[in-house]
Amino acid sequence: MPKRVALVTGGIGELGRSICERLIRQGCRVAALDVALITNGDGGRGWQAALAKDGHDIMLVPGDVTDFDSCTQAVADTESRIGPVDILVNCAGITRDASLRKLDKNEWDAVLSTNLDSVFNVTKQVIDGMTQRGFGRIVNISSLNGVKGQFGQTNYSAAKAGMHGFTMALAQEVARKGVTVNTVSPGYMNTRMVEAVPQEILDRIVEEIPVGRLGDTGEIAALVAFLCSDEAAFITGANYSINGGHHMH
Ligand code: CAA
Repeated sequence: MPKRVALVTGGIGELGRSICERLIRQGCRVAALDVALITNGDGGRGWQAALAKDGHDIMLVPGDVTDFDSCTQAVADTESRIGPVDILVNCAGITRDASLRKLDKNEWDAVLSTNLDSVFNVTKQVIDGMTQRGFGRIVNISSLNGVKGQFGQTNYSAAKAGMHGFTMALAQEVARKGVTVNTVSPGYMNTRMVEAVPQEILDRIVEEIPVGRLGDTGEIAALVAFLCSDEAAFITGANYSINGGHHMH
């Protein structure tokens, strides 16, 4: 069987890299799309070189998920170099935490466009090809805080909850065409995004996690990779919590 082609947005961030690496190990050809490849030309090159040393290729695709035309270009570049996209992981995301009374319009817009508009902007580029070819896997990386809400995250919680609404609607539209659409909702992980939370607040958060620690990006990537596999054909419209028991529902 030809290798599946996977596109991961936010692909050079910490979680994005873990997902890319896991998909490569699963036998996919992988492209990492990231705005940091526009704003910081060197971003990701060291990682690419390290993977190459181990005999693995990763395609780096500069692209801005908040900009529809940039996504059109990025997907066209990917498809012309490594083939039609079979697997899409919408992983690009940012935080701009502040309570609503302090949150300004720019912080609202930045989070909604990067975390939610992005899902439309990128998925729209690949959905016709997937349905025409009769195979596709889409995984939207949401968050625990899209399920339970979080003080200081009206923007982030709204966008992340919106991602799962998108998942459930699109899953119904494409279920008969061999395309699955699922959400993965990670809890607090040992990434820079989480480490940016003030230490005393983070300590309290970790105390609330039954497993007693932050998650590892590799643990999230393993679940994502399974949902992207051919074996996961009967799973669609689902929202997987992976949070060390932080929120059970
Ligand atoms: N619940 C209820 N009240 C709270 C509270 C909470 N969790 N946290 C603070 N308050 C109260 C304070 O006691 C204080 O009350 P008083 O005014 O009566 O003294 C008041 O709210 C402070 O409100 P402010 O708006 O002034 O808060 P702040 O500016 O000091 O801090 C914040 C706000 C920056 C959002 C800070 O609370 C924070 O960083 N919280 C953590 C947010 C968080 O968990 N982000 C996750 C980032 S990682 C991620 O998002 C990845 C993922 O998917 C999991």
